[in-house]
Amino acid sequence: MDILHSVADVRARVAQWRRDGLSVGLVPTMGNLHDGHLSLVHTARDHCDAVVVSVFVNPTQFGPGEDFDAYPRTLDADADRLRDAGVEVLFAPSVDEMYPLGANHTWVDVDGLGDYLCGADRPGHFRGVATVVSKLFHIVQPDVAVFGEKDFQQLAILRRMTEELLFPIRIVGAPIARDADGLAMSSRNGYLSDQERARAPRLQHHLDQARRALETGERDFRELEARTAAALSAEGFEVDYVTVANARTLAPADAGDRDLVIAAAARLGKPRLIDNLALTLP
Ligand code: PAJ
Repeated sequence: MDILHSVADVRARVAQWRRDGLSVGLVPTMGNLHDGHLSLVHTARDHCDAVVVSVFVNPTQFGPGEDFDAYPRTLDADADRLRDAGVEVLFAPSVDEMYPLGANHTWVDVDGLGDYLCGADRPGHFRGVATVVSKLFHIVQPDVAVFGEKDFQQLAILRRMTEELLFPIRIVGAPIARDADGLAMSSRNGYLSDQERARAPRLQHHLDQARRALETGERDFRELEARTAAALSAEGFEVDYVTVANARTLAPADAGDRDLVIAAAARLGKPRLIDNLALTLP
């Protein structure tokens, strides 16, 4: 595996692969890699001949007061894991390489889908994500890019961006990788104390309870959201939102919507945890 830091080097490598007739997969990450990220890498490998994984803690998707400076940066360990997974190129650019003029003036902003769920609490977050992923798409020009369903809203926004900006890239969603006790893997789980870590799987538990309620006929979505949020609060979570959303628009679901996602974000001590469960009603 080669570790490349410059846009020019990545472009040259991909051009060589193209001359050799190889297909190319991209897995964008912010590093501190865990098995969830690795599952995306394996998915990319299944679809493509050569795989690029980017590790870049993207400043424009962090709000003031969020954890940009503290975000765990573990490039050596990440490189070891990616080498073991058979990745061809690790792209680890500097902030200057990705934002050559310093302050950024050109943004990709996907209307609508960003208004709900995490977008409501994190203004500018998805604009930063869509902008940096566009840059990565322009640099690598992959055939396939893989993103996790854990960030359900991010995946929906990036699918729409790809379609509307006519990127000739297939977006593949990968299922949520969980620890044995059900907690969705996340680089931010490392911020949890032992006690908080023991409680954290209750987030998934309560989303699962909500899913069961929907499957057994509950149709008062707002009541179910309030009940689920109250159950989480009672167990020490500071709930940002629990929403039963239309899986396509991400707006709060209406009676009659069938493709749903139950999504939640809640703080437990320092980290903000997110999780979701998608389901289709009969
Ligand atoms: P990051 O949080 O590092 O996640 C990188 C990719 O891994 C995302 O597609 C995310 O959905 C996926 N992922 C994380 N945890 C997962 C899990 N438990 N199961 C399945 N997939 C999981 O998401 C970002 O970085 C950034 O916003 C990025 C897209 C790289 C743009 O900066």
